Amino acid sequence: MQKHNGEKYYITTPIYYPSGNPHIGHCYTTTACDSIARYKRMQGCDVMFLTGTDEHGQKIEQKAAESGVTPKQYVDEKVDVFKKLWSFMNISYDRYIRTTDDYHIESVQKIFKALYDKGYIYKGEYKGKYCTPCESFWTESQLDEKGCCPECHRPVTEAKEEAYFFKMSPFADRIEKLLLETDYLRPKYRAQELVNNFIKTGLEDLCVSRTSFKWGIPVTFDTDHVVYVWIDALSNYITALGYDNGHYDDFSKFWPADVHMVAKDIMRFHAIIWPAMLMALDLPLPKHLAVHGWITFNGEKMSKSLGNVVDPFILGERYGADAIRYHIMREMALGGDVSFSNEIMINRINTDLANDLGNLVSRTVAMAEKYFDSTLPEEKQSGEFDDELIAEATALSEKVDKLVDETQLNLALAEIFRVVSRANKYIDETKPWVLAKDEANRSRLAAVLYNLLETIRIVSVLLSAFMPTDMPKIWKQIGAEGDSVLYDNTDKFGVLPQNVTVHKGEIIFPRIDVNKEIEELNKIIGNNKPAQADKKESKKEAPENVALIGIEDFAKVELRVAKITACEPIKKAKKLLKLTLDDGDGERTVASGIAKYYTPDDLIGKSVILVSNLKPAVLCGVESNGMILAADDGDSVKVIFVDNITPGSRIR
Ligand code: MSP
Repeated sequence: MQKHNGEKYYITTPIYYPSGNPHIGHCYTTTACDSIARYKRMQGCDVMFLTGTDEHGQKIEQKAAESGVTPKQYVDEKVDVFKKLWSFMNISYDRYIRTTDDYHIESVQKIFKALYDKGYIYKGEYKGKYCTPCESFWTESQLDEKGCCPECHRPVTEAKEEAYFFKMSPFADRIEKLLLETDYLRPKYRAQELVNNFIKTGLEDLCVSRTSFKWGIPVTFDTDHVVYVWIDALSNYITALGYDNGHYDDFSKFWPADVHMVAKDIMRFHAIIWPAMLMALDLPLPKHLAVHGWITFNGEKMSKSLGNVVDPFILGERYGADAIRYHIMREMALGGDVSFSNEIMINRINTDLANDLGNLVSRTVAMAEKYFDSTLPEEKQSGEFDDELIAEATALSEKVDKLVDETQLNLALAEIFRVVSRANKYIDETKPWVLAKDEANRSRLAAVLYNLLETIRIVSVLLSAFMPTDMPKIWKQIGAEGDSVLYDNTDKFGVLPQNVTVHKGEIIFPRIDVNKEIEELNKIIGNNKPAQADKKESKKEAPENVALIGIEDFAKVELRVAKITACEPIKKAKKLLKLTLDDGDGERTVASGIAKYYTPDDLIGKSVILVSNLKPAVLCGVESNGMILAADDGDSVKVIFVDNITPGSRIR
């Protein structure tokens, strides 16, 4: 019996503007949702995974005019590219919605009319500022310090026209409660900022129609107006199920959604406007809104290459779609931003996939081939270290289940790779090559290899939701098939036949020569700068009044790389932030006096230098276990971030 026998599960990505070519940033949400959808299917859920394209609006109308084609021709061509990318990345969506689909248009018109009939939509005059790239209206007070769009910081235009408005104020209290008192919003720390910025200042009515352009869904009872693109777009989550149309009949089965996943720039629409629309329509609210940060270059949201190859087609061709999927999911924490560079990506592929997982598989299979001619004998003799490995491997699925349910995919992958490391350590501990020297140890050697194959089976089945193409290649090599690769057998040990036969095959994750590869990529982007700037050595003398210490003093300080996995303000102490760190061995909490200089968003997902052997201290009620390094830089304090080093690595 499967764990979630037929339980329904509905997950959505945002629907993308098909206004340019997709880049690696667009792949993040879709890959994450795909992995969750695959995981849930594996667990036995009846899954609906929705994605699609948001095809109306002034921006598309303008782009089409610039290209000399109709808006529909323009979006048709771009949608093709998006669909090709999703197929290339193995995205297993169940439904693809285009907002130009007739059934969606029909439903949006009915939704608009229903809101009008209920008195939530009324006619008025719009005066204010409009940001065309974001398709967003802003009031004067919401603009940034330069009078530009507060989201993309581009200039806004004056707008004044007759328009329909959606009354938001009746829902203010319920939305505030939804954000502050439920676990709708993930991560929760963003709730207060939304409430302060949009609700406490008075939830303003939203302008929901336009007359200055035509490329939109006409308002049926006033055809000079087209429906505001966000009302059109947000509705996709229910129209795609057949809400108010006869095209599909899945609304009662799948609504409310289990998870909407979006990036932080569109959180406001999903955390405030969408719940208000649903409340006005008397519909249940989605269970969770998971908000992730951006994939950035130099702190800015990725949009073009800026000296890196970000075209997922090119990257996928070179390293395989699964390696790209793994990299972006492993790097991206819920909440925080993550910086992208080709070098970080290649190093991640080399360390985790080629070295840790790839070597584990190839060493184990090669030893089974060499010592037992590929087929293990039935007799096994258990021994030291077995119990620990077996306990960790069989406990893994429960941990991963929880993290997938919490949409913390980077942490789920970290747990899986912890077991991969444990298995590699087991090889070092049991030394099969030494056992192989003595005939008397044959049944012990067989047990060691069997335990490794079982661990690889469990790990690769759980990973198959994240890397659906490469894991079946591993199954073939370790002789796993049929029921042994079912999720339901991931909490059991001893599932592979005792006399399992392995099949040595290709290297699944070949190691990439970083310098050579960066050179190749530089050629692709026409940028022949050396991969790394020359390092200059500087010899400095100790400043006056600073006592010199010997190396033995320095050796007392244990410095390690640690990754910030969560961060929140400490209520009682304005200066402190409470950080949760992955220090390679597990989790620890550190309180750090940097609240004036950093928000949780700036920190989550980043790696820092931790003084890991500092005595614990309680600061404002929080037990702090260590300290992170930061520099006084003029009036500011800057945390020292490190890139591309595995948590737990010692610094010397
Ligand atoms: N059409 C709207 C969404 C409507 S949903 C009812 C839209 N489209 S978008 O194409 O501009 O962006 C879609 C999603 O991709 C957003 O969540 C956006 O933040 C995300 N990303 C775009 N670039 C990204 C990165 N560089 N990094 C992470 N997410 C990226 O907004």
